[in-house]
Amino acid sequence: MLPIGALMKEHRVVEKSLKLMTLEKQRMDSGKIDIDVVRSLIDFLTVFADESHHGKEEAILFPALKGKSQSYEFDEITSNLMKEHASIRAHLRTIQNALQWFSEGDKESANTISRELGEIVAIYTRHVVKEDDLFFHSAMKALSEEEKEEMLFAMQEFDLDFTINHFEKLIDTKYANLIGSPSKPAKP
Ligand SMILES: [Fe+2]
Ligand SMILES: [Fe+2]
Repeated sequence: MLPIGALMKEHRVVEKSLKLMTLEKQRMDSGKIDIDVVRSLIDFLTVFADESHHGKEEAILFPALKGKSQSYEFDEITSNLMKEHASIRAHLRTIQNALQWFSEGDKESANTISRELGEIVAIYTRHVVKEDDLFFHSAMKALSEEEKEEMLFAMQEFDLDFTINHFEKLIDTKYANLIGSPSKPAKP
């Protein structure tokens, strides 16, 4: 498998979550809000799309293309793709804040949540098309077979470390807090 094969498979999963976000936005705009559903979708996008998927693009794919110029300006397009990652990250932060305000009673925050859901879906949909149809194939042409093999291996290592760290964090924080700990007993 090519490194971009792995990334494109991840894009297909992200697209499924974007469809669900669109449906949830439609429900919100008709007056029904399920805050837990929105929070789950945003948590998923933060961990899977931003930390893991963007993590591999930013730490492995983009640096490998630095300075490689064919008929294609990699430095310029990678800089634009990085700006889009930053923009998606900023929208995720805004919606996480709005979710917090909403759960504290500020019902007006529903407008921010709905608007941010729409923004994230729009930006991410364009971003995925740009990478799939324009960037990834040109990127593979710029790399040797050996470089592509090394890249795939590096991505697999990234995923392994990421999975272990992610679940260790869950055990140490979320799950430990749910059951309580000797220093912080659970509520009766
Ligand atoms: Fe990307
Ligand atoms: Fe991507």
